[in-house]
Amino acid sequence: MTESLFGPAAPMELAPGAWLLPGLALEAEPALLAALQAVLAQAPWRQMQTPGGQTMQVAMSNCGPLGWVSSRAGYRYQALDPLSGQAWPPMPTVFQTLARHAAELAHYENFAPDACLINRYLPGTRLSLHQDRDERDFSQPIVSVSLGLPAVFLFGGLQRADKTLRLPLSHGDVLVWGGPARLRFHGVMPVAQGQHPRLGAQRINLTFRRAC
Ligand code: SIN
Ligand code: FE2
Repeated sequence: MTESLFGPAAPMELAPGAWLLPGLALEAEPALLAALQAVLAQAPWRQMQTPGGQTMQVAMSNCGPLGWVSSRAGYRYQALDPLSGQAWPPMPTVFQTLARHAAELAHYENFAPDACLINRYLPGTRLSLHQDRDERDFSQPIVSVSLGLPAVFLFGGLQRADKTLRLPLSHGDVLVWGGPARLRFHGVMPVAQGQHPRLGAQRINLTFRRAC
């Protein structure tokens, strides 16, 4: 979606339970980016290992009470950053407020995420189709905030082989999926070269979830 002079565009229902909120994060952009830098100063980018022993292309960090981690031991949520041995940085208020507001616009009330996974995609980086299913309660939605370079998001069905919708996402767009859409497969096509005026040559995604 393009940045508009007139504020965010109307929510668009992509499928039952799944909403695109174009430009919703733009209004809070300065506060979001400042909070993001503070989180990353405490919990820097790292490329985790997959359970199969590969290095993930996407670099990650987390904030909030729980962080999503991957290692040879598997995928899980944990309270401590394995790099520092310390708790993940707290989830900034501006993150929580945006996540809750986005969930409300998508008709999910009282969303209180306890985990925010932060993904960084350099040009050429992709994320293959997967389901988010490491959480305890699938009645809670997922809120996903796109920042920096644009990307094409792949939004599939409940089966891996289902047809995927190709959804262009730009800086400030927010996606919410839950309810009947909660376990839809999704992924990100390789990010194209480019320069974002504030974030440079990268796409950053914030994924808010209720893990526990
Ligand atoms: C994810 O599925 O974990 C991230 C999706 C995105 O980067 O848009
Ligand atoms: Fe995901």
